[in-house]
Amino acid sequence: MINRPFISFAILCAILACGQLSNGETPPKPKKLHKEALKLAKSGAIESSLQYFRAAVRADPSNYEYMNNLGVTEMRMQSFRKASYRFFNSLKLSNGEYARAWDNIEELKAFVSDDDFITFYHDWLGLNDDNSPIPGLDFDDVSYGIKHKTKALPVIDYETFFDPSNETARSYATGYKPYMLINGMNHWDLDVLGNKELLTEHFKSSRVDYYPHNMREEDVRPYFSELGSAIDNFENPTGLFDRIDASERTAYIQWNMKDAEWDKMKELGMDLPPMFRSDDDWIEKCFREIDRVDEFFIKTHWRMVLIGQEGAGMFNHKDTLHSASFQAQLAGRKRWHLCSDAYDEQMYKAGDVNTFSPNYSKFPKALDLECYDVTVETGQMLYYPQNYWHQTRNLDPFTMSVSGTLVTDSNKDEISHEFRKECQPNKRGSRIFTYEERLCEGLLQCMNHWQVKSWEEDVTAEFEIIMKKRAEEL
Ligand SMILES: *[C@@H]1O[C@H](CO)[C@@H](O)[C@H](O)[C@H]1NC(C)=O
Ligand SMILES: *[C@@H]1O[C@H](CO)[C@@H](O)[C@H](O)[C@H]1NC(C)=O
Repeated sequence: MINRPFISFAILCAILACGQLSNGETPPKPKKLHKEALKLAKSGAIESSLQYFRAAVRADPSNYEYMNNLGVTEMRMQSFRKASYRFFNSLKLSNGEYARAWDNIEELKAFVSDDDFITFYHDWLGLNDDNSPIPGLDFDDVSYGIKHKTKALPVIDYETFFDPSNETARSYATGYKPYMLINGMNHWDLDVLGNKELLTEHFKSSRVDYYPHNMREEDVRPYFSELGSAIDNFENPTGLFDRIDASERTAYIQWNMKDAEWDKMKELGMDLPPMFRSDDDWIEKCFREIDRVDEFFIKTHWRMVLIGQEGAGMFNHKDTLHSASFQAQLAGRKRWHLCSDAYDEQMYKAGDVNTFSPNYSKFPKALDLECYDVTVETGQMLYYPQNYWHQTRNLDPFTMSVSGTLVTDSNKDEISHEFRKECQPNKRGSRIFTYEERLCEGLLQCMNHWQVKSWEEDVTAEFEIIMKKRAEEL
């Protein structure tokens, strides 16, 4: 009898292995998952037990016993770093009182060097936002987190932004420098746009990419899903992910928006400032059919809504297309680490340096970095120009932002170059998209348009319209 729920689970598993997130499954009971895990572990099926322990932890992340037992299994499989994190988590959850986790830490120490153990602990501390050490596990030389130079990002108030005679404002508006924009979303309807229930109502069956295991690592592949079931999975996680570790509740949704979805967002109250919608005019001109526009959007991830749980984030990287980008925070907070390409050497390659807690012994040049470290709150917007390194981490259980790719006067040539490379019919490999004749014909038109467009004048014209409107309102 006790096996029955797991039979349907096995089928679900088979479906999930195809990369499709299933719909409408009853969430599994953590207790049952844990019981099955113990049964498998006792029978010696360690690897099979692992996915059940992971699922139990995911279903009930506050249970220090499940957390500890997942660690024991990982220790048996010689994943000592992961195991140590689980034991530290278990102690944190139990206020340092769960004796078995202490015993397991002693056992683990027999397998790893003292230095490695201290490093694991420091790294674990670096992953925790409150950085609070476990009583009794305090080392004298605790030195974790960021040791390189960081500074705050320039903050610009929306009101002062649109003055055509203000040189400083203009230097930001034309997109050469990163900045944070405040009070620019005061008139947006965030009660709708930042509300997961209402958003799900409007976009229930929109296609999204679901990352149950976060996007922190570079080689993760998404599960395809509908927005409704993906958001539902945040709170009621289903599924035994056999090939990935989804034990932490740090799922991420990347929703590549189609043209109609973007319009719907506008209808619901998204009202971007002119410098963040400068692509509207040329997209309309270079692609004739709406299907091409959508193909362009999806293949280049041009416009996205990003929805994530606490701890989810994107590994450190630069955008392949050499494009600029903005993000408007619709719900929750997101931490950003931003750095210009002057520090390419100190960043090694994409995904190497975890900028929120760098391993300076492995990447010593990272000590010379000088970057921006900024937390963007609900209702604030962030802009970064082309070739900026960026890493993100969500700081709240539900965070959501809308983001768009931008061509500017300063990056149009680099982006054209990338698109031309992608649009060679006989090229080998593909970094952005596979060749498609009609898409590439359209892109050529876009690039022609960028060359003749007078970027500075366009911005100024928009600004004058806004100033005039404001004067009329007074
Ligand atoms: C010009 O713009 C900058 C940035 O928006 C602002 O800090 C400054 O106060 C503005 N100067 C004037 C004279 O309005
Ligand atoms: C940091 O890098 C060193 C050298 O490669 C390595 O031995 C150590 O395990 C790393 N620490 C972590 C926590 O990854």
